[in-house]
Amino acid sequence: MNLSVIGCGYLGAVHASCMADLGHTVVGVDVDAAKVARLNAGDPPFHEPGLGEVLQRALASGRLRFTTDMAEVAGAEVHFIGVGTPQQLGTYAADLTYVDAAVDALVPHLTDGPNGPAVIAGKSTVPVGTAARLAETIGDAGVLVWNPEFLREGFAVQDTVAPDRLVYGLPPEPERAARAQEALDGVYVSILERGTPRLTADWASAELVKVAANSFLATKISFINAMAEMCEATGADVSFLAEAIGHDDRIGKKFLKAGVGFGGGCLPKDIRAFMARAGELGAEQSLTFLREIDSINLRRRQHVVNLTVHALEGRVPGKPVAVLGAAFKPHSDDIRDSPALDVASRLSGLGAKVRITDPAAGPVLRQVRPDLDVRDSAGDAIDGAHAVLLLTEWPEFVSLDPVELGERVAQRTIIDGRNVLDSAAWRAAGWTYVGLGRP
Ligand code: UDX
Repeated sequence: MNLSVIGCGYLGAVHASCMADLGHTVVGVDVDAAKVARLNAGDPPFHEPGLGEVLQRALASGRLRFTTDMAEVAGAEVHFIGVGTPQQLGTYAADLTYVDAAVDALVPHLTDGPNGPAVIAGKSTVPVGTAARLAETIGDAGVLVWNPEFLREGFAVQDTVAPDRLVYGLPPEPERAARAQEALDGVYVSILERGTPRLTADWASAELVKVAANSFLATKISFINAMAEMCEATGADVSFLAEAIGHDDRIGKKFLKAGVGFGGGCLPKDIRAFMARAGELGAEQSLTFLREIDSINLRRRQHVVNLTVHALEGRVPGKPVAVLGAAFKPHSDDIRDSPALDVASRLSGLGAKVRITDPAAGPVLRQVRPDLDVRDSAGDAIDGAHAVLLLTEWPEFVSLDPVELGERVAQRTIIDGRNVLDSAAWRAAGWTYVGLGRP
């Protein structure tokens, strides 16, 4: 099929590349000429394992191209909207400027094809009610379907080609709904043939699936971090607790890793935008618990700062502190709302000489945070440090040798912000090991 993907960020670039790799002919559109040039050269503008290979393969097949010119989408049967919906400055609400601009720019280029009207498939995470509003803008020019994605950074290619489920939010008119469903079934035919569940509903339900899923995931993380606080108050071990409750299938073991909390471009802003939307709908009370989820999460960052200040016996100014990790999670160079970077900034604000290092986020960090001392490797960051903080669990940090590192620091204190280190091995090497929610 001929497809277009509007917006070529984390979501759009991966979607366009994977759809072309599955055999479709795809044009990706983005307003950022530099990003378009890099994508056309087979060079992903962000770190995402496996994307380079898929992108290069799809470009070589001749089925994929990127452009800044919206007119080039003409003739495509399905147009995916994958632009960002960031948090609005100063409020909790989502900024829909890019979604609105994408739809406005797309509508004049929509054309009917042999199979019926063009289909617009919204993938961006939006406040419930957005699809109904956009459908008014689109009118009879095309058929709108809401088709949220659930991809995780670091696993984006795998999550796109082998998702847990496909969700279609269909228009209320049966004929238009049938057209949208038939078009998306065509796009995802190879995924559906593998038995992937496909759930169809109305626009609002599909929009809500995404924010409900992210709210649930955020709730699991903040729940276990609240238990970590209880463990800290009692001397119990949250890692043991998570494993023990996780044996109950109804609870499950995943997403119960206590530590410095969640960050990134999705969970924090999605739960805030969900609360803002609930307020607009007069349903604020239904989501007040998310405010608590958010504050438990943010408390973890200050807790790590407090542990560091304690380790430095309150004498922070001028003290070298090594921060291992800047991205919000490993296998990503994304520093949006990153707990690691937030902790580093807070310690720097207290006068510590923070040296920060990250296997992927180093270059972006040097660009956007020239105030920070960014080092090329963990070894470089820890030389002479009075405290070492592991805040993003990259495998190369988890496998660091405490004996070797012990020779290079001024004071052997390790704060394990992700509870991933072998505490016994670090203690045996003479380190003071500080876990989160662990004795
Ligand atoms: C998330 C959702 O998982 C995905 O389905 C959605 O489409 C987008 O948002 P992502 O932001 O890529 O994906 O990261 P995810 O793997 O969910 O991690 C989010 C944050 O939670 C990270 O900062 C991670 O370190 C943290 N986390 C995760 C924990 O602190 N503990 C856990 O047990 C799991």
